[in-house]
Order: sequence, then structure tokens, then C-alpha cells
Amino acid sequence: MSQRAEADTVAVDVKDGIAWVKFNRPEKRNCMSPKLNRQMLRVINELEFRDEVGVLVLTGEGAAWSAGMDLKEYFRETEAQGLKGVRHSQREAYAWWERLRWYQKVTIAMVNGWCFGGAYGPLFACDLAFCSEDAQFGLSEINWGILPGGGASKVAVELMPMRKAMYHALLGETLTGKQAEAAGLVNEALPAERLEGRVTEVAQKLLKKNRETLKATKDAVRHVREMTYDNAEDYLIRAQEALNWHDRSDGRHHGMNQFLDDKTYKPGLSEYDKSK
Ligand code: ACO
Repeated sequence: MSQRAEADTVAVDVKDGIAWVKFNRPEKRNCMSPKLNRQMLRVINELEFRDEVGVLVLTGEGAAWSAGMDLKEYFRETEAQGLKGVRHSQREAYAWWERLRWYQKVTIAMVNGWCFGGAYGPLFACDLAFCSEDAQFGLSEINWGILPGGGASKVAVELMPMRKAMYHALLGETLTGKQAEAAGLVNEALPAERLEGRVTEVAQKLLKKNRETLKATKDAVRHVREMTYDNAEDYLIRAQEALNWHDRSDGRHHGMNQFLDDKTYKPGLSEYDKSK
């Protein structure tokens, strides 16, 4: 096919509180070109504060989730423009991964197929990750003569124990979905035909919870990883106090009242009813 227009490199469908966002270059195994990176930032920015969006799912059209960076358009063509071209295209990619790491809504990677190299950036950026058992994951950088950059080495050590991360980076072998689950790259690997159903089920559970609390919780989990225990303890006190102010629904008092006074639910077993 002829070159895909920038606006067509990402597909979006918002349904029942879930924004389904797709890498949409199946003919190129959804590898990330500068056009796709620009369009993805536009799309996720536009969705972030829409009230009808509670959860964002990032998946891929066709056989791939994403085959990493586009070797032609992201590397060869920008390198031909010199340092300015290289830095510019790096910033476009990193910008949307960063936006996603600190996104206002919970994000889920639904890895339907190939996931290589640079794709570990958005994989890590998503709060949760589910994959099909026949998906394949690889740090293939070693196979074509570069190191796992763009955050990929960091993602490997964040998600995997050191020995597994080192083997993964040095050998450039692929992991199956089940192996990726065992290594910690994803929450769960499922048969392909059950993947979307499971992700929808998880998203629906999240939709029932207090949105402000979800955002405070996901940020807390990411932030405390790099803090000392004392700093984390202090940060969490302040984050909860900020949440008390941000949560205009006053969720924690509804949560307490429905348990202690109304006795309509048990917090150990489910969430309070937001609609009351
Ligand atoms: N960059 C540029 N083009 C790509 C990429 C990529 N990362 N991945 C796939 N394509 C293109 C192919 O060149 C091919 O284009 P063409 O039709 O114009 O020839 C098209 O997508 C289809 O790819 P095939 O290789 O024919 O698809 P196949 O299903 O046989 O294999 C696979 C899929 C295994 C994903 C293979 O395409 C591949 O190895 N891609 C590269 C994966 C990779 O190493 N990515 C870089 C990681 S490192 C980083 O991101 C920094």
C-alpha cells in the first residue's frame, strides 16, 4: 500500500467507558514511525480528560502489538537529517510514552502479537499488561547492532530480575506470552480468543472504582519504587491528603459510611457504590 497518512497510523474506538487505541500500521507490523508517534500523542492527549473514558487499552491492529521503532523512518531517515532530526524524533516517541506513564486514566497494554525493542517503552508505560499466549516479546536490538535504548534496558530491569533481564538483552531471543508472564513483563498470558474478553473484564472492574483514587494509587506505585521507606511514607501521607482535596466526590467518606453505617458492602471484598 502507499504511505499511510499520519492520521491513519492510530485507530481509536471509545465504547462503554473504554478507549480502545490501536497501533494501526499492520502492513509494517505496527512499528513506530515519527508519524505514528506524533499521532499517538495527539490521540491520547485528546482522550485523557474525556469524561466518557475511564480506562485506556493500547493494542495493535493485525499480527503485531508493535515491532518496535521503524528502522527506516525512525532511524535511517532521521539520522540522514543529522543530530537535530535524531533528537526531534526521539522526543516525539518519548513524549507519548511519558504521557502514558503518568496518564490520568488507568492504562492496559493488550499485547496481541509481536512486541519488540522500542515497544517496551509503551509496554512499561501502561499500568497493566495482558497478552495472548502466542505473542512474542524480544529485545532484538542486539541482533541488529545497537543496545536496548529508548528506555528498553530500564524496562527490562524494572520488570525482570537481573539475570533474566541480562539474558534477554544479550541473547535477543524471543519469549512467548507464557514466558513473558513468568518473567514479569505482563500480568497474564491468555489464549488469543480470550484476550479481549479478559481485558474488558478487568477494565469493567476498574470502571466501578473511584477514578481519583485510581490515579493517586497508580502514581503512588510508580513513585515509591524509587524512594527510601521514609520518603515513601511521607510522600504517601501527602498524596492521600492531596487526594482528599482532589476527590470532589468525597469517596472515602462514602466508602466508610456504606460499610460502617449502611452495611451495604465489605471493603475487603469489593468497592463501595459510587452511584449512591
Ligand atoms: N522497522 C521497519 N520496518 C519494519 C519493522 C521495523 N521495526 N518491522 C517490520 N517492518 C516491515 C518489514 O520491513 C516489512 O516491510 P515491507 O513489506 O515493505 O517489506 C513489513 O513490515 C512486514 O514485515 P515482515 O518482516 O515481512 O513480517 P513478518 O510477519 O514476516 O515478521 C517480524 C514480523 C518478526 C516482527 C519482523 O518484521 C521483524 O523482525 N521486525 C523487526 C523487529 C525489530 O527488531 N524491531 C526493532 C526493535 S529495536 C528498537 O525498536 C529500537
